[in-house]
Amino acid sequence: MTERVNVTPAAQRQGPTSYYPAFGIRKKSRTPLKCSVVKEESQAQIREAITEIPSPSRSRARRAKQLQDNNAAQRENAGGCPWDAPEAMEAAKAAAPPAEVAEAKGEATPRAAANVGAESFEVDLAELRIGECIGAGTTAEVFRASWHGTDVAVKKLRGPLPSEFQRELAVLSQFRHPHLVLFMGVSTAGHPKIVSELCEGGTLFRLLHQQKEVPLSWPQRIKVALDTAKGMNFLHRQRLVHRDLKSLNLLLSAKVTDRGVTPWVKVSDFGLSRFLPQCAPSGPCALPHGMMTGGVGTALWMAPEVLTGNSYDEKVDVYSFAIVLYEVLCRWIPFDGSGLEPVSIAVAVTSGRRPDMRCVPTDCPISLCRVMKSCWGHAAAQRPTFDAVLEMLKQAQSA
Ligand SMILES: Nc1ncnc2c1ncn2[C@@H]1O[C@H](COP(=O)(O)OP(=O)(O)O)[C@@H](O)[C@H]1O
Ligand SMILES: [Mg+2]
Repeated sequence: MTERVNVTPAAQRQGPTSYYPAFGIRKKSRTPLKCSVVKEESQAQIREAITEIPSPSRSRARRAKQLQDNNAAQRENAGGCPWDAPEAMEAAKAAAPPAEVAEAKGEATPRAAANVGAESFEVDLAELRIGECIGAGTTAEVFRASWHGTDVAVKKLRGPLPSEFQRELAVLSQFRHPHLVLFMGVSTAGHPKIVSELCEGGTLFRLLHQQKEVPLSWPQRIKVALDTAKGMNFLHRQRLVHRDLKSLNLLLSAKVTDRGVTPWVKVSDFGLSRFLPQCAPSGPCALPHGMMTGGVGTALWMAPEVLTGNSYDEKVDVYSFAIVLYEVLCRWIPFDGSGLEPVSIAVAVTSGRRPDMRCVPTDCPISLCRVMKSCWGHAAAQRPTFDAVLEMLKQAQSA
């Protein structure tokens, strides 16, 4: 790590004034429902989403679950859990389409191969002792909870978002990796809730931008980048595109309080993820725009091809990784203080503009800048795979 990047020091290093520009194009732009009555058909969709995950013992489990739902509803209505309206519980009970519906529709997904039953992960709400709210995103609020003596995180979706719930559940229940947040269970009664391991360190965003008093060494920063790339490489190997990679969706297993703490990063929030279709060995794997939703993810971390609505593939995550890397290297939110309106930033990015390199600290290893620049290349095909990113980062680590 003897090479140094030669850049002009940033004139001023004030803390960012905002989390990130409030772009017009936002992910998951549904209006959050606040404990309102959940429509019956929406609940039915949630049920359908869940039952798309096959189980060898589904019939038995379904009967048991129906009984469990009824019990949970009674408990919640009796004041057990504060967040579900009684009407929602009634709707949930009423809507339970047979599992065969999804199968009959032929909606086979890679998760079918895992033969995982959502029912087997069902968590009894009465076993959860819900504590304080520890975070909130665009679709959910997350609470600290205790489950049989173990501290966990409970992600409570604000409204009926069946497709996002389905995706998140599918990914979490199927994939296990040290750098992906560990899924522990799900509660489908009332508002859907996902139980996962608790990441005590909070978000990478908070560490980088809101805890600037905590110093971070270059080895620590490289470790953050490596952990993220490992998690993402695993996902891409499973042909899954995350589509919402950003520092707000990267969690730290434990608090990083000083240079002596080795960070451990976990990728989270799979609500926008998508499996890539199988492609012909010789043909390209890029997805036509119609197959993937344009404008997903949070705009600041979005690749130009997403912003312009062109077809895209897993390389959109590599672009987002570059933006995360910029945050890690600079501890600065890209374009913050540029004076550009959010929409102008999006336009600038699609025209090839990238975050200000003058914010990169003068002692930053130049190899890290190279990784970052290659990852935010304009042409998706020119961006490296996470395999290659890992190689480059490992070299930077051992330099
Ligand atoms: N397992 C977890 N441990 C600790 N905090 C979490 C956990 N999961 C989520 N959070 C917190 O909750 C916030 C929102 O969670 P997220 O899954 O990103 O929801 P959304 O889909 O609404 O963006 C995160 O940014 C983080 O602050
Ligand atoms: Mg999120």
